[in-house]
Amino acid sequence: MKVTLLMAITLGGKIAQSSDHFPDWTGKTDKKFFMQQTKVAGCLIMGSTTYDTIGRPLPGRKNVIMTRSPESRANTYKPSELEFTKATPAEIVAQLSSEGFEQAILGGGAKINTLWAEAHLIDEIVLTISPLVFGEGISLFNKALELKLELKEVTTLDDNLVCVRYKVLK
Ligand SMILES: NC(=O)c1ccc[n+]([C@@H]2O[C@H](COP(=O)([O-])OP(=O)(O)OC[C@H]3O[C@@H](n4cnc5c(N)ncnc54)[C@H](OP(=O)(O)O)[C@@H]3O)[C@@H](O)[C@H]2O)c1
Repeated sequence: MKVTLLMAITLGGKIAQSSDHFPDWTGKTDKKFFMQQTKVAGCLIMGSTTYDTIGRPLPGRKNVIMTRSPESRANTYKPSELEFTKATPAEIVAQLSSEGFEQAILGGGAKINTLWAEAHLIDEIVLTISPLVFGEGISLFNKALELKLELKEVTTLDDNLVCVRYKVLK
């Protein structure tokens, strides 16, 4: 199963100003692109902090939420819509593959991105670059690590939004 890290980033290289920063700065085109990409994959994986900024599963796709305490989360949705899990990235890949998913979108935040990068399980990174600078904030990853990448595609999604697609070299 292919794992695509899909994130909106500022020109200053930040994904948010702080952990509880609601992602309302990315703009309509980015939101539409995110919705379309996650629907095509059918599955979206994110950290509990990111999920809490949204507060509900995104409809029409499976939402996998990584938390160290899934038992403390009330879940009234079907497992095909929302799952809280403490499984490792490798275990999540195995489970989603066994459910028939061929692609999953990894949707942040920095802590969860780092877990997946450290496990060498990110196959592709797609960034939409917003014309904005926060100065301080949260980066794509929250620890020192190194990924080698190969640029695959650069597109302009609208007059103000650039999208870059990289393959992660393993
Ligand atoms: N620009 C973008 O595209 C974009 C996308 C996504 C998020 N964001 C932003 O990123 C920020 C959140 O990022 P974040 O890095 O603070 O949080 P995060 O990565 O979304 O979630 C971190 C949480 O995941 C849980 N977790 C699950 N497994 C873990 C493990 N093995 N080790 C450690 N923690 C584990 C922990 O919470 P438990 O206590 O539940 O275990 C941890 O606090 C928000 O501001 C959000 O808006 C931006």
